[in-house]
Amino acid sequence: MILLVGNTKGGVGKTTLAVQIAIARARAGKKVWLVDGDPQGSSASAIQYRADAEVHPEIACSLFADGKQLRQQVRLQKEAFDDIIMDVGGRDNAALRAGLMLADVALVPFAPMSLDLWAMHDMAKVVEEVNGERDGLIAYAVMNQAEPRERSADNAEAAAAVGEIEAFQYLDAPLVKRKAFSSSTGAGLGVSEQSSVDQKAVTELDRLVSRVFEEK
Ligand SMILES: Nc1ncnc2c1ncn2[C@@H]1O[C@H](COP(=O)(O)OP(=O)(O)O)[C@@H](O)[C@H]1O
Ligand SMILES: [Mg+2]
Repeated sequence: MILLVGNTKGGVGKTTLAVQIAIARARAGKKVWLVDGDPQGSSASAIQYRADAEVHPEIACSLFADGKQLRQQVRLQKEAFDDIIMDVGGRDNAALRAGLMLADVALVPFAPMSLDLWAMHDMAKVVEEVNGERDGLIAYAVMNQAEPRERSADNAEAAAAVGEIEAFQYLDAPLVKRKAFSSSTGAGLGVSEQSSVDQKAVTELDRLVSRVFEEK
């Protein structure tokens, strides 16, 4: 599957989700290619840490700063992989548009904060424009950095607000704000690969991955 993790906004968790999902799928035995389309190269840096630390499974990763190049290379190489995970966006740019043209599924993370909720309307416009040019794109909105309290009013309100946006299907598999997600991703490790495993983080990530890949 070609999975895009993208949003026009920065800081929503694109890199965190892309790296964690890529590692989870590789650990499940899939041939994975992580495509970093953000010139900041955070996903590529995380995977470089992983390579330097000789952590297995190794993850194939490429950084394409240019949307046209990303599109050409993914088209050319897609048959060689089970899963291609693309980390794109931060703003409405060519890599995000190219990724949306190629993806089977787009995963759009947002935090339960008003700035992120406003930005979801911008991203919805981009998804709608792309849907005018192609068929079959599934766009999921997924909450990231959710409040840890189970019955958080912020989480519920944000989920309801995003649920109203027609361009997205709300995927009820939130990742809570947890140190395990930030520390593991920065080191190029999956949450289940840390020396001290945060089981709640592992459970949340597993649920997200199985919802995205098995309940299409
Ligand atoms: N679920 C989470 N729990 C804790 N920290 C998170 C979580 N998701 C993202 N972060 C942190 O928030 C910041 C932004 O996340 P990042 O994945 O880099 O966003 P983006 O790629 O969209 O700019 C990073 O410092 C990251 O470690
Ligand atoms: Mg990023």
